[in-house]
Amino acid sequence: MISNHLLFKLASGEVFGHDQPIALNLLGSERSRDALEGVAMELEDSLFPLLREVNIGIEATEVFRDADWALLIGAKPRGPGMERADLLDLNGQIFAEQGKALNAVASPDVKVLVVGNPCNTNALIALKNAPRIPSKNFHALTRLDENRAKCQLALKAGLFYDNVSNVTIWGNHSTTQVPDFLNAKINGKPATEVITDRKWLEEEFTPRVQTRGGALIKKWGRSSAASTAVSIVDAIKSLVNPTPKGDWFSSGVFTTGNPYGIADDLIFSLPCRSKGDGDYEIVPDLQIDNYLYERIKKSEKELLAEKKCVAHLIGDENGYCDLPEDTTLPGEQ
Ligand code: LMR
Repeated sequence: MISNHLLFKLASGEVFGHDQPIALNLLGSERSRDALEGVAMELEDSLFPLLREVNIGIEATEVFRDADWALLIGAKPRGPGMERADLLDLNGQIFAEQGKALNAVASPDVKVLVVGNPCNTNALIALKNAPRIPSKNFHALTRLDENRAKCQLALKAGLFYDNVSNVTIWGNHSTTQVPDFLNAKINGKPATEVITDRKWLEEEFTPRVQTRGGALIKKWGRSSAASTAVSIVDAIKSLVNPTPKGDWFSSGVFTTGNPYGIADDLIFSLPCRSKGDGDYEIVPDLQIDNYLYERIKKSEKELLAEKKCVAHLIGDENGYCDLPEDTTLPGEQ
């Protein structure tokens, strides 16, 4: 569902620019081969002038060959009675395999954006299985959460969405994520000066953003698709265009050496900015008060616990799976 929206945006030139030819390589499974052929036919019939190739396949080691961008979207949803640890393991295996394939055949500077949940830990697994590719090139999608947070702030302030900037999502793409209203801006002013109701920010805005994915699943009976595709476009565009002066965007990135004291060796959503060359730097010196700090630590703890559960997939022999009682995956409330 996400790809059905995304592929047509990629092919149109909306993402990489109207002078950038595109070759799309679509990875599916034996079961989805017909659907893949169907979407490839629709792409061809759309006559996008920039679309030079559409290839489909079910072997990651063929489909990822020479890829400059790898958008890892597919993952298994959690089935009835399935424990979180089971899902981490099941999906983790997919991302370990895809990491290995990227390592073997992708462009050495491939940028990897992981969307399939639990996306932070899946991105870490892919990264650990792809030692040839710089760790910095791996991202987990938290732009959807940033967009959701911006929407809520704009609605509360009674302004259009583009008046809201500098919104960071800290941590995991799960219900422990921390949408940061403290450093956010509305019309260039601190959001807390425009929305002075701190109780609303803490007790309504924060949980609403944290549980938006689950609320949507209840309405649709499936995960968000169109808004996820839009946020993937936003995430890529943020890396291939210079970040406007003074602004930043959120992405789940590799933490080693980060300026906020977050544990090394995780994929954690942080404020980033880019020169537009596909690379990024972490924006330092944001203000963190006690409210944010406690929540950021909780999200960090959750990611450390997830990491222990997938130790066998990232070459760490000391793992054991002991997720905290209140650990939640995206889509849960
Ligand atoms: C979302 O945030 O909409 C999704 O990640 C939810 C999900 O579990 O697929």
